[in-house]
Amino acid sequence: MSEVLVVEKIPCENGDGIIAKFIINRPDKLNSLNDDVMSKIKEMSAWVNEDSEVRCVIITGAPPNEPVEGKRRKPNAFIAGADITEFLGQDSKAIRPKFEDNGCEYIWNITKPTIAMVDGFALGGGCEVACVCDIRVVSDRSVFGTPEIKLGLIPGFGGTQRLVKIVGIGKTMEMILSGDNVNAKEALEIGLANHVVTPEELEEKTMQIAQSIASKSLHTLTVAKRTIRSALDNGITDGLQIELNEFVSLFDTEDKEIGVQAFIDRTTPEWKHR
Ligand code: COA
Repeated sequence: MSEVLVVEKIPCENGDGIIAKFIINRPDKLNSLNDDVMSKIKEMSAWVNEDSEVRCVIITGAPPNEPVEGKRRKPNAFIAGADITEFLGQDSKAIRPKFEDNGCEYIWNITKPTIAMVDGFALGGGCEVACVCDIRVVSDRSVFGTPEIKLGLIPGFGGTQRLVKIVGIGKTMEMILSGDNVNAKEALEIGLANHVVTPEELEEKTMQIAQSIASKSLHTLTVAKRTIRSALDNGITDGLQIELNEFVSLFDTEDKEIGVQAFIDRTTPEWKHR
């Protein structure tokens, strides 16, 4: 059986570190998130946090397989949600542990920058995985949606809480209460997509952003991510205090000296990542 999650290690262009690309690999089931995928996501998210070589993470779905003769090609999918077949006959007692300790939270807890590269359906848990990533780069044939209401459910991987922070309460209400999908153009308009490009341009655009991020100091990146994230949990007064503390802490790092000196010398900084 092929791996349900393939991890590619892409060298950074500056020769320092790698970009980790997670490819959810169940294209015949539209890359839906079953228990095996979730446990692999947890394992690999823990790995990227520990491995000092990893600068940035890209999460994407595998493209469709060639169809067997006489069958139609399956559609492109980022992730078409949680594996619905694993819901049948489950009660709250059985389902709670899976959702209390789920792979989306592990991605959310990756301390390094994360980019969702979306080509096709990003529904339910797929929309939620996209929302736990820091940046979303999207092909123009992609479709976002939270169709759980059609199953008598609501989003359970943080969708009600994170989508609202990205697109606002009105659009979140509409998406979750109606279960109606949002196309790529609309995703761009409401701020769900950072960029919309053609499927042919998707890889290049995503890699361009990933390489730009990966060329920075890993220590500074993690401080930046942590500080921006604090805005989700805090009001502006507390948030500004957090920013002040994080900002001044960087003045005790080697990378601040390296970055500032490189600017003055008009050279490229060679980070120590500390
Ligand atoms: N869980 C389990 N299997 C899924 C799935 C999911 N979330 N989404 C798609 N699949 C499977 C289908 O059962 C089908 O399997 P099969 O070929 O073995 O029968 C295969 O993936 C292809 O999907 P199919 O429905 O035939 O493709 P389509 O082009 O007709 O429709 C969608 C595509 C995305 C509109 C449709 O698959 C869909 O609505 N999926 C569920 C989305 C959802 O509700 N997600 C939230 C879950 S909480």
